[in-house]
Amino acid sequence: MPTTQIPRTYRVKSFGCQMNVYDGERMAELLAEQGITAAPEGEEADLVVLNTCHIRERAAEKVYSDIGRLKRGDGSTPLIAVAGCVAQAEGDEIMKRSPAVKMVVGPQAYHRLPEMIRVASEGKRVTDTDMPAETKFDALPRRRRSGPTAFLTVQEGCDKFCTYCVVPYTRGAEVSRPHADLIDEAKRLVDAGAREITLLGQNVNAWYGEDAKGRKVGLDGLIRELADIPDLARIRYTTSHPNDMTDALIAAHGEVAKLMPFLHLPVQAGNDRVLKAMNRSHTAESYLEILDRVRAVRPDIALSGDFIVGFPGETDAEFEDTLRLVDAVGYAQCFSFKYSPRAGTPAATMDDQIAPAVMDERLQRLQAAVNRDQYAFNKASVGRTCEVLVERKGKLPGQWLGKSPWLQSVHFIGEATVGDVVTVELIEAGGNSLSAKVLSSVPA
Ligand code: 5AD
Ligand code: SF4
Repeated sequence: MPTTQIPRTYRVKSFGCQMNVYDGERMAELLAEQGITAAPEGEEADLVVLNTCHIRERAAEKVYSDIGRLKRGDGSTPLIAVAGCVAQAEGDEIMKRSPAVKMVVGPQAYHRLPEMIRVASEGKRVTDTDMPAETKFDALPRRRRSGPTAFLTVQEGCDKFCTYCVVPYTRGAEVSRPHADLIDEAKRLVDAGAREITLLGQNVNAWYGEDAKGRKVGLDGLIRELADIPDLARIRYTTSHPNDMTDALIAAHGEVAKLMPFLHLPVQAGNDRVLKAMNRSHTAESYLEILDRVRAVRPDIALSGDFIVGFPGETDAEFEDTLRLVDAVGYAQCFSFKYSPRAGTPAATMDDQIAPAVMDERLQRLQAAVNRDQYAFNKASVGRTCEVLVERKGKLPGQWLGKSPWLQSVHFIGEATVGDVVTVELIEAGGNSLSAKVLSSVPA
């Protein structure tokens, strides 16, 4: 494509967290509003947006190799925009190292993409990593399309400054979107076909706002109000911080039927000295106590967590405390990572960085423990009757795939369509999914 033309087709490739998936969808909607259409599967796009993640290792290298791979047979490249957290953290470096990149746009500035594309189409290179006072959400188009499950960003940024984490630097300070805007976006998503909404935020449970009557509300209040939307069947939220797990939010787990029995509550480590060095401002015990309170109101809650192994200075004995915590909780699923130093964070310059081989060994042991628990959780679900929200067709004839209330992948063969909520009995457990038998189906 000559650089003097506005692109006709786009492709957005998102990496990393669910918020990046949400941002990627919003960028796609924005481009579509400009008359740029999604490139058909397998065809080259005029414009490629790489929506990057910076949270863990080798993020930047991955971006450079992705850029390299965009080169076409004739040596030309599409118009390339690098977006997301790597763009925010290393935008200038990317511009220096990769002449093929024409646009660098940070996570708080992507509503300005249409103008940037116009500038880039004239052959100029443009960077926008501002964190503008005006919110991108006001400038984005209204949502018109949705699958059965949808993400809704309610809160962005982080003020917690865990010593290993780049998010406070790349996403900026904690900001809650206004209550009215969220109710409006949720209703539009439901009108467009969403049956489940997952509320997103780096610290989603720190969300707060003012309802239509001017009352201060926390995430529990927002959830209760969303539960009144008739065609919305399910509500989830992620990711939470233990310190923002209020009594009211815990109570909502016992009282709001549409709030699914699943809680992703990262703990990162099971040892209090390590937690302190991470600046987590909770202890292993205070974390376990929160889980006890949630279980008291919602005994079937499925629990999920994030862990980092090999934080600087973590001893073998301290790592054993993490394994003990995992045993104590019995997680339904977990995400575990090797510590990866991020430039500009306090932990990156701490003494006693842990050798890669030690991290590998700890990660393997932790993952073996959480896989064991995940399988045990799935096995314990066999025989349960539950509802499955159907998300897509399976590979076998007549097969459908969806999620249980506990976020397990479930497959069954029967009469259904995408968006149905089907009552099933779970009949067999695998490590990553369950098979089910249909008992009855409720039309969408
Ligand atoms: N190294 C390894 N894992 C990290 N995470 C965040 N920063 C780092 C890092 N520097 C993990 C945490 C967090 C999840 C989103 O990513 O577990 O909860
Ligand atoms: Fe990062 Fe900690 Fe904030 Fe989570 S709470 S985004 S781990 S700084």
